[in-house]
Amino acid sequence: MKAVYFDEHGGPDVLKFGDLPDPVAGDGEIVADIHVASVNGADWKVRQGSYAPVAFFPYICGRDFSGVVTEVGAGADFEVGDEVFGVLPVGQEGTYCEKIATKASVLAKKPVGVSHMDIDAVSLVGLTAVISVEETLQLRPGEKILIQGGAGGVAGFAIQLAKHIGAHVVTTASARNHDYVRGLGADEIIDYNAVDFTQAVSECDAVFETVGGETGTRSFDVLKPGGRAAFIASGMQSPEPTRNDVKSLRPSVGRDRPYMERVAALLQEGVITVPELQVFDLKNAVEAQKISESRHLRGKLMLKIR
Ligand SMILES: NC(=O)c1ccc[n+]([C@@H]2O[C@H](COP(=O)([O-])OP(=O)(O)OC[C@H]3O[C@@H](n4cnc5c(N)ncnc54)[C@H](OP(=O)(O)O)[C@@H]3O)[C@@H](O)[C@H]2O)c1
Repeated sequence: MKAVYFDEHGGPDVLKFGDLPDPVAGDGEIVADIHVASVNGADWKVRQGSYAPVAFFPYICGRDFSGVVTEVGAGADFEVGDEVFGVLPVGQEGTYCEKIATKASVLAKKPVGVSHMDIDAVSLVGLTAVISVEETLQLRPGEKILIQGGAGGVAGFAIQLAKHIGAHVVTTASARNHDYVRGLGADEIIDYNAVDFTQAVSECDAVFETVGGETGTRSFDVLKPGGRAAFIASGMQSPEPTRNDVKSLRPSVGRDRPYMERVAALLQEGVITVPELQVFDLKNAVEAQKISESRHLRGKLMLKIR
């Protein structure tokens, strides 16, 4: 099968496009033809080696896909021909390619009438946003939340989910993205290039932090006493709080079918819309990773594989 992979950590130049062996289904696994995969921030961080070194080479990038089951291993509860989507277990990545073998238990059936492209565009970002906003922050109606980096993939989903819950949503974005985040439902938008966000918002019940670095640690400043902040871009641990009257939380983004079914339901009910998409052929995945690495992507980067 065709795949985009690397044999050593490094910059975009280490990515290769070539042939690798087809996967086979183990117990509890299916093999699927991948129709669409997405490009996520984690992909270039893994490629660079800024996470732990990968356990094996060649390493195929990519964590989510939507596709069609072609083989069913013992105990896997799908049938050949089922349309499925999902996010792979941590450490078992590899969706920038034509076929995947993975655990059936992390996949859900693709909703009827929703394209492979649209469901995959919300899979990993939806999983992360649902766990962060609903489980980790336990956001409630009437609360005020600051969502950092509103034009990004995860934050865009989180803005819509927070509005659905009934929260007041403040977000940060560059001026060129203000109409976009307003369209997602943001109540207040801070141009973080023009003003210091800590001077523009205060007394928040919650912060969802998707940017990292100094933006992360300074986010504690906008919380009211007892407030809570969830961090997804600051490494494996959440940062130490800079005040002792607030909570610093690190969402545990597990992979499991019920989460994928929740994401699909939110899309089908119209709570969530599909983000703005930029679509690439598999062989051009390196171009998509470069855009992701620029940290100023709007919406989602997608790979159309079939
Ligand atoms: N822990 C997990 O399970 C998990 C899962 C998914 C993602 N992540 C991480 O979460 C982060 C976000 O991922 P993503 O895919 O949603 O992001 P993304 O699509 O790459 O978007 C990044 C966004 O951040 C904005 N931005 C950059 N600098 C900013 C700043 N100083 N203040 C405010 N906004 C800023 C950019 O918008 P402007 O152009 O408007 O600046 C851009 O829209 C990444 O670090 C990713 O690795 C973690």
